[in-house]
Amino acid sequence: MRNGGEIGIQQDQLGGKMAKRASRPAGKARKPDRVNGKSLSPQKELSELLKCRFPEVFVEGKIDGDKLRQSLGEELDTNNERYGLSWAGKAECFRHIQETTTATLRPRRSESVDFDKTENIFIEGDNLEVLKILQKTYQNKIKMIYIDPPYNTGNDSFIYPDRYKEEKEDYELRAGIKDAEGLLTKDGFWRKNSKDAGHFHSNWLSMMYPRLFLAKNLLREDGVIFVSIGDEEMSNLRCIMDEIFGEENFLGMITWKARVKPVNIGDAKYRPQREVEYVFVYQKEYHEGVFQRLITGSMRTYPHDLNGRKYRLATILKSNRGANIRSTMVFELDGYTPPDGQRWQAGEDVIRQLHHDGYIEFREGTPLIRYFEDEEGAEHDPFYCFMEVDWSSTSEAGKNQLNEILGDRHGFDTVKPTRLVSTLVQSCTKSSAEDIIMDFFSGSCTTAHAIMSLNSESSGNRKFLCVQIAEPCEPDGEAFKAGFSTVADIGKERIRRAGKKIKKEMEGNLTFDKNRLDLGFKVFRLEESNFKQWRENVRTGEELKEQMRMFVDNVKKGAGSEDMLFEIILKNSRFDLNVKIEKQSFAGVDYYRLATEDPSTTLRAGSEGTEKIKAVSGNKRIHHEEKEGHEGKTNANEIICLDTKITKKFVDKVLEEKPERFTCLDIAFKNNDQLKTNTALQMESAKIEFKVI
Ligand SMILES: C[S@@+](CC[C@H](N)C(=O)[O-])C[C@H]1O[C@@H](n2cnc3c(N)ncnc32)[C@H](O)[C@@H]1O
Repeated sequence: MRNGGEIGIQQDQLGGKMAKRASRPAGKARKPDRVNGKSLSPQKELSELLKCRFPEVFVEGKIDGDKLRQSLGEELDTNNERYGLSWAGKAECFRHIQETTTATLRPRRSESVDFDKTENIFIEGDNLEVLKILQKTYQNKIKMIYIDPPYNTGNDSFIYPDRYKEEKEDYELRAGIKDAEGLLTKDGFWRKNSKDAGHFHSNWLSMMYPRLFLAKNLLREDGVIFVSIGDEEMSNLRCIMDEIFGEENFLGMITWKARVKPVNIGDAKYRPQREVEYVFVYQKEYHEGVFQRLITGSMRTYPHDLNGRKYRLATILKSNRGANIRSTMVFELDGYTPPDGQRWQAGEDVIRQLHHDGYIEFREGTPLIRYFEDEEGAEHDPFYCFMEVDWSSTSEAGKNQLNEILGDRHGFDTVKPTRLVSTLVQSCTKSSAEDIIMDFFSGSCTTAHAIMSLNSESSGNRKFLCVQIAEPCEPDGEAFKAGFSTVADIGKERIRRAGKKIKKEMEGNLTFDKNRLDLGFKVFRLEESNFKQWRENVRTGEELKEQMRMFVDNVKKGAGSEDMLFEIILKNSRFDLNVKIEKQSFAGVDYYRLATEDPSTTLRAGSEGTEKIKAVSGNKRIHHEEKEGHEGKTNANEIICLDTKITKKFVDKVLEEKPERFTCLDIAFKNNDQLKTNTALQMESAKIEFKVI
């Protein structure tokens, strides 16, 4: 049984971990672990790693600097003068990285499209908090990150880092500074960083550093990050990227022509035209083949497979009207004759030979021709650091694209073109792999749009994970007048409309497997936890009593089952937000079964102990080998029960299902300590991890 979860939310915390770890009499079950309601602290993880490698440098749980120096010998630079970028507030950044969050992501079904089927995700909220929340479930799962952060032009607004000096509780209070509609207010923590404000560059660096640091943990080992930037912070960004990702992982700086029209206002007239922007590219670790050459021409991909040979499909019919009329090219093949106005593309002998050689495939009764990858020899272009407009398109075109979808009242001055993003995506992801691409400064959601389009062109399976704060639209601005309250609303509406547009364009396209195209997305919003948090700074006995009373039921008022379910998935499950969820009921108790594939197959097959079960976690397939008898039961799944009453009958059902982990509410045992103790004992002997919240 894999125990060791920390007590996170409730009063057991008072007893401390020491008491919890004390040896217990043989035959007596330990109490179930409580779900840790906090996000992962990357420093803590690093410290654990260090402890494994250098146990000798730890004294009473803390790192002894002198001992570390001795262990590393000459590897340690003890010179006070050293190379590196420093700014006002840099040390604070590390405190922020370390601070955990208890916030959660609440599902918003009404704003989503195909919530239960889609694997695309949009999260509304401050990306620092969101990155922290995702540390547990998305660590090493993201194949590519593309971000387009504020360039720090003097007109950009972002979360102001000077506020970080507050105490955590004040910060949380302040995070609640919202207007009646729940929007962030400008006098809260979202402010403009103008050039005459003190610490102009430091503010930007302090905003960026913790986000990039946390983002790195989410990247897969073979993952790549692309960061767009302008002249303003280009040199500073390079320094912090080198520091966080390592100079040796720098893959290049792409320069692309963002504007073709000259700017003739203000001082722009008196300096060279700044028509280019940059994209820094870093890999997480060296991996051969991380970066691919680009397929020239039509971005051909080969989505179909015939005995291991990849192929694409194209039409083999032509118009049979006007100058194209050829009566000898209208003939019957395998019971099919081209309809009026159409003919075969070649003569009868050629078509029959192609058919004989396996080059013709019928889909929905229509003939198509197969082009095999190994025969076509697609041409590949090197990826050049100077990106031609053909590969990137321009910002002006990006804005026109957005106009086409939302009308011209979206209020965005600069929008990235989908072509730029899709070229970057193609360079390091494969259409057939289920790669996740993240953008945590997603603005109008160009990245989501680019991925849906790319998938539709190539029968791809890439998924997006976009994060955007609810930045309020200016009340006198065009977007507000057009009905958008926040930039996040603009992003969500773009995804909805782009999805519909692509679907329409795909209608009638037989070369494409429409059922596989994911044009939906799940919306989540950053919110406070659904569970009451145990205050660590209780000072008086009265406060303690009040806290104990509050914790008789630690579920906050108004917390919905699905809200709690996703919070538990994020904080205490090995699955991610795309886990397949099946709601079930047994003997009057409601519960959820989770598995990355259809949970009913995984669980049922598991309890019979007869089949080889595969469960998919992120991009890694986990195979559970078939074994005999009780031991052979497969448990690659979890059960979560949020019912407020649990019965013995239900506990027996869970034992029979034999999930890997079972989580339920502490209050579900009401005052029945005996049932709780027995459940803990039975779960332990059945090797089921048992957690309460
Ligand atoms: C330059 S824009 C991105 C534009 C986007 N690439 C596009 O094509 O539409 C940067 C976006 O980051 C958002 N942003 C800034 N700080 C953020 C934060 N802390 N969390 C989430 N989003 C943030 C801003 O609201 C803005 O929409």
